[in-house]
Amino acid sequence: MRGMKKSNLVLGITGGIAAYKSAELLRLLMKQGHSVQVAMTDAACHFITPTTLQGLSGQPVFTDQWDARAPNNMAHINLSRAAAAIVIAPASADFIAKLANGLADDLLSTLCLARNCPLLIAPAMNREMWQNPATQRNIAQLIADGVQVMGPDAGMQACGEEGMGRMLEAAQLAELITAALQPKLLAGKRILITAGPTYEPIDAVRGITNRSSGKMGYAIAKAAREMGAEVRLVSGPTSLAAPEGAQRVNVQSAAEMYQAVMQSVADCDIFIAVAAVADYRVAQPAEQKIKKSDASLTLELVPNPDILAQVASLPNPPFCVGFAAESEKLAEYAEQKRRAKRLPLLVGNLAQQAIGSDDNELVLFDDAGAHPLPHADKLTLARQLLEHVAQRYPAAK
Ligand code: C5P
Repeated sequence: MRGMKKSNLVLGITGGIAAYKSAELLRLLMKQGHSVQVAMTDAACHFITPTTLQGLSGQPVFTDQWDARAPNNMAHINLSRAAAAIVIAPASADFIAKLANGLADDLLSTLCLARNCPLLIAPAMNREMWQNPATQRNIAQLIADGVQVMGPDAGMQACGEEGMGRMLEAAQLAELITAALQPKLLAGKRILITAGPTYEPIDAVRGITNRSSGKMGYAIAKAAREMGAEVRLVSGPTSLAAPEGAQRVNVQSAAEMYQAVMQSVADCDIFIAVAAVADYRVAQPAEQKIKKSDASLTLELVPNPDILAQVASLPNPPFCVGFAAESEKLAEYAEQKRRAKRLPLLVGNLAQQAIGSDDNELVLFDDAGAHPLPHADKLTLARQLLEHVAQRYPAAK
């Protein structure tokens, strides 16, 4: 599957009741195509058996520092050298304290100390243990050391208390791990993205808009962040949360979107216009609500600026990517649009399939021809699209 980096991972499990979620996490990581080597502490083996994890991972599970199966008895070195990342889930308070202090008195802690790859941890513990200044100090130290801390979450705890300390759910962890593994193909690049619909007022309470959900644009913003880009997202009205680390500028009308884009475009490297911008606006919106009457009502509509075409025709334009939602003859109309707007890359999709849904199917049109991206969720497609952009960008610059 393109758009998803498959890796060798080490999944470290420490002693905590949340270890039951690790079996599901392992399954999800493997479903995404990763190969996972499990290593467990003694305490973890009290909560879930190595047999379960061996069965699911299809690989022997390491629990013992003195395990003679590893070549030269060097499991602590060999396991991390083959890994793209080590994930500790659950990470107990005791294990976090060990990591923060560089202790290495069992296989898993030795493995972490000897690693040459990123370390991600998912803390899980009682709320008082989590809030304890010692734990908070240790977490702060790990963050300063470059360890990625995933969670914890608040909620009902196994001990019956309620508060911070629950391990994130397996699906959330799998998503964060996959995001962390994305190659940093866009590191240092500044990307400007438009997303969502626009809203063109008719009067004080009514307006013209469309059914764009903003999901594709937001997925691209998220994928761009994962790949190391600096992201500014100029968004029409949507109910979506801004992807972490993206700078969102909220706008309503096409005119506001145009202004926001023009203010940012000078210092961006790549511009991706995903927004479904209204082609027309009401010439003179009424300041107050228009009162109903039996007479017919005519609204004069005037064309909006084509933001993408204007950016693409700047003297020194960023690498411009457009979207075309068509209801038929996708290849023909998309290629026409690409030429008309003078874009190095245009993404075509069928409007009936794309609007509002979580999945889509895209075709990328560039000078080399058409590149279909098969049906997938929008985040997977966004990653594939940005991989393509990252390949094409240096050639186009
Ligand atoms: O011409 P059409 O509206 O189909 O082109 C779609 C592409 O142009 C999309 O990338 C959309 O974001 C962009 N666009 C724009 N400003 C407009 C209309 C479309 O940026 N006024």
